[in-house]
Amino acid sequence: MINRVRGTQDTLPARFTDKTDAQIECWSLIEQTAREASRRYGFEEIRTPVIERTELFERGIGAETDVNKEMYTFEDRDGERVSLRPEQTASVVRAYIEHGMFNQPGLTKLFYIGPQFRRERPQKGRYRQFGQIGVEVLGQSDDPAIEAEVIEMLDWYLRQLRISGTELLVNSIGDENCRPAYIEKLKEAIRERLPQLCGSCNQRYEKNPLRVLDCKVESCQPYLNELPAITDSLCDPCREHFQSFTSMLDQRNIAYTLTPRLVRGLDYYTRTAFEIIGNQLGAQNTIVGGGRYDGLSQMLGGPAAKGFGFAFGIERMIMSLPNDAAQSLKQSPDVFVASIGENARNHSFALTRRLREAGFGAVVDLEGRKLKKSLAVANSLAARYALIIGDNEIESGSYVLRNMSSGDQLNLSESDLIATLRK
Ligand code: HAM
Repeated sequence: MINRVRGTQDTLPARFTDKTDAQIECWSLIEQTAREASRRYGFEEIRTPVIERTELFERGIGAETDVNKEMYTFEDRDGERVSLRPEQTASVVRAYIEHGMFNQPGLTKLFYIGPQFRRERPQKGRYRQFGQIGVEVLGQSDDPAIEAEVIEMLDWYLRQLRISGTELLVNSIGDENCRPAYIEKLKEAIRERLPQLCGSCNQRYEKNPLRVLDCKVESCQPYLNELPAITDSLCDPCREHFQSFTSMLDQRNIAYTLTPRLVRGLDYYTRTAFEIIGNQLGAQNTIVGGGRYDGLSQMLGGPAAKGFGFAFGIERMIMSLPNDAAQSLKQSPDVFVASIGENARNHSFALTRRLREAGFGAVVDLEGRKLKKSLAVANSLAARYALIIGDNEIESGSYVLRNMSSGDQLNLSESDLIATLRK
């Protein structure tokens, strides 16, 4: 037997699994609600390829980031290095540049739904292929109103899905004017503590000192809490931007926690960074991550453009749903059509076709089963009704319609049948 690749998941109809994050109904709910949020807030959908040139991510998300090191990269037959995308912001910005979207007036507001790939160690909420839904706002403006509106949309989304117990963490990580001086200050403070800090902090100190702040190792925490906070080193424009952003959240009554140690794992971020964490996810508790990335377009060889966006992991969002959230999306047929005998079987195909033309979800027995077995299938599919056709029914023009939950049966003509199914 050939099993699926480690860290990947099959998404099944709910009746085949009790793991909610692997149920297709939950995925549909998450996607439908995201489409509705996008419609209300004026985002347009974009789809980009799953494979991109490796260089896009090396330049975009940074060669020294964890995400870069976790990429599935291979050489194509013509020697070109390509990677399965580990995230989609770099792809969306590439498409923005490649198709000259910046030539249109106003902001470009895009959303996407799709799989991403990272070769991480699998655990609860962490997969090697996972779904993301994200939005990106691109254009000439870096007004904090963009950030506040995007977060307002997320707030709507979480409320719509009845997801509770989440916390919005916000920070500003400065820009190219104030961050270099802060990083020097930070390195100096870390240097004194290197012997007490873990191996990964020591490595990050050399290559990506900001990421030291993100270390989750218990014994490092007391030392990390003493490190200087970036918010104390922001230049005036960055500080004003951040103040204006948080006051816009206040105006919208959106609660947030100022989190000076929040730095994010991708190099393209500038100024505002944020995450939404959940309380039901264990170690992998970040549901949403996002921020501003004003330099990314130029880093990728495009025009100067500002950007802000976020992405969330679909599996993690699903794990945060209330248990009954996707109940109404379970796909079950309105009617299962069973027949007794060869003549009735042919009749059942024609009648089923008419039911489908009338708009019903109808499944007909294609296997020539005995009635009892057919009813067992109808039951397993959670069909609302079973329709039973034998020679007598054809002759009298009156069919047996069985309500699968109550077991009640009615004899009905075709037009009464349709009227009953419509109810
Ligand atoms: P990220 O923080 O790397 O940001 O990922 C965003 C979300 O994707 C995470 O919060 C998590 O829910 C989900 N996620 C990440 N890795 C995994 C995994 N291995 N298994 C399951 N879920 C995962 C980005 O990807 C940025 N592109 C977000 C962004 C958009 N920033 C600006 N615009």
